[in-house]
Amino acid sequence: MDTLQALDIATFLDTQRHKDTVRFITCGSVDDGKSTLIGRLLFESKAIFDDQLASLEADSRQYGTQGERVDLALLVDGLQAEREQGITIDVAYRFFATDRRRYIVADTPGHEQYTRNMATGASTADLAVILIDARKGVLTQTRRHSRIAAMMGIRYVVLAINKMDLVGFSEATFNEIVADYRQFAAGFDFHDLQAIPLSGLEGDNVLQASPLTPWYSGPSLMQYLDTVEIRDPRERGALRLPVQWVNRPNLDFRGFCGRLAGGSVRPGDAVRVLPSGVQTRVKAVYAGFEEVAQASTGDAITLTLTDEVDASRGDVLVAADLPPEVADQFEARLLWMSEHAMAPGRQYLLKLATKEVTATVTEIKYRVDVNTGAHLAAKTLALNGIATVSLSTSAPLVFEPYQVNRSLGSFILIDKLTFETVGAGMIEFALRRASNIHWQALELNKATRAAQKHQAPKCIWFTGLSGSGKSTIANLLEKRMHAEGKHTYLLDGDNVRHGLNRDLGFTEADRVENIRRVAEVAKLMVDAGLVVLVSFISPFRSERRMARELFAECEFVEVFVDTPIEECEKRDVKGLYAKARKGDLKNFTGIDSPYEAPDAPEIRVLTTQHTAEVCAEQILKSLG
Ligand code: ADX
Repeated sequence: MDTLQALDIATFLDTQRHKDTVRFITCGSVDDGKSTLIGRLLFESKAIFDDQLASLEADSRQYGTQGERVDLALLVDGLQAEREQGITIDVAYRFFATDRRRYIVADTPGHEQYTRNMATGASTADLAVILIDARKGVLTQTRRHSRIAAMMGIRYVVLAINKMDLVGFSEATFNEIVADYRQFAAGFDFHDLQAIPLSGLEGDNVLQASPLTPWYSGPSLMQYLDTVEIRDPRERGALRLPVQWVNRPNLDFRGFCGRLAGGSVRPGDAVRVLPSGVQTRVKAVYAGFEEVAQASTGDAITLTLTDEVDASRGDVLVAADLPPEVADQFEARLLWMSEHAMAPGRQYLLKLATKEVTATVTEIKYRVDVNTGAHLAAKTLALNGIATVSLSTSAPLVFEPYQVNRSLGSFILIDKLTFETVGAGMIEFALRRASNIHWQALELNKATRAAQKHQAPKCIWFTGLSGSGKSTIANLLEKRMHAEGKHTYLLDGDNVRHGLNRDLGFTEADRVENIRRVAEVAKLMVDAGLVVLVSFISPFRSERRMARELFAECEFVEVFVDTPIEECEKRDVKGLYAKARKGDLKNFTGIDSPYEAPDAPEIRVLTTQHTAEVCAEQILKSLG
């Protein structure tokens, strides 16, 4: 290869590297012509390779809706299934470039059941192109898309009024839609709203100004995208570096690596490690292997510090004079992304930047109707549901409100058992600063109380179906232990539900709360030095695990009273199975509410093979 060509490639790559990147999302539905519009952007910016073009022509003949013409929408609706159904179903990222900028387009489906996909696409976008069919004007879905875009922190909006060719490029129609939209969007924090009359199909005002809209003097879509000045508030903020890992190749080098989540950094800057608060200075800044004079938001860097300070993954290095907040209780916006509804009180893993903690939603303040924005009361949050919630975390988090810093203000919730990402959230503000919490230091403690009773405090947790024999066995066991001089207490579902938990029923959310409360009470009793027996159906693995985590390892003993449902139903001591079968009792465990059997209980008793006395004896022996 001659040097000239090699040089050209190098120059080309270099120009590409120095172009800024704009990330945008397109919102609209199948009928708005969204795919055609993106297809045209890709096509006109030559982001299509020849082989794609050849297959596009072939596909157009087979699936196209444009007769003999190439159907540009097919470029975007990539998947076979989507093609056949004529809808787009996931977030697809497309890349193209102009002479000035590089673009990443998140193309998400518009239907309400894909709210989570749209929110995912919007969460990293700077700008939203909201499509409106000129014949239809502002629709419910336009409002929903705008609301989600605003919630995800998008500040730049293009109102792409499409299919202008079908309304004869009417200025009046355009103006009417724009006025309508502006009125609706007045409450959102959009910095820039540009309405453009266009036709994705014909290409009017997509790249070039159209001669058919002489009344419109604004930019074409491409001109706007190429020139709009997008400011990320994080860049103007102070230094924030969530530590991803500590790089120690040898004893002389200790580098803190991560992606700069805010501000910029230079050698000599005074920094603080949060949450510990230790202060020091930046010695050097590295980008890759190179030492650099400065790094800015978004850069992946390594910092060395002048002092030997203790910082590890999850900590955040921040500007010493402008530290962010640290808190363990928050008000946040939450979008639920799992088929399995969110239950307040349940524990999830929360990941914010590089930090992972356990978190619970303590209260759903209200659910938001995505179509109208109305606030609704809610006890749980289903798939695609959006709510404002109170959240409590097991350890303090270094954060900033989402409006200020998307990286330090957003988090995901993960199911502790399946590791599925179940929710995405945006912190609005702290409800309580972490610095205000301190445990009352008590002179008497669990050890002193237990020693006085000459026993090792324990929580013996019985789980099993209604009628499995939990209470009978627990009762026998308690009597045996009491006779041996042990200090015990039995917490029984039916009894506790008459007092402490009398406000709770049998929905999933109520059962989660039921178990949370009884687990906390059991913990207090263990702290008092008692052997506490807990006899609750406790049907969900997640809450049994939560209970387990409240105790030291040897303190918690899970006893699975393993009685098949047929047997429980045959016994039907309280006549509840009969009622449930008749439909007179809803949410009955084992009938129309699930029971998740334990995988690895410490003790398992089989009541179909042994009497209750033998089972109690077996447990006593196992306890040692
Ligand atoms: S749990 O699921 O939340 O752990 P808990 O052990 O407190 O349940 O209460 C179960 C007892 O409540 C059962 O033994 C039964 O007597 C009664 N009960 C009333 N309705 C139901 C129901 N729908 N499902 C299960 N138990 C019910």
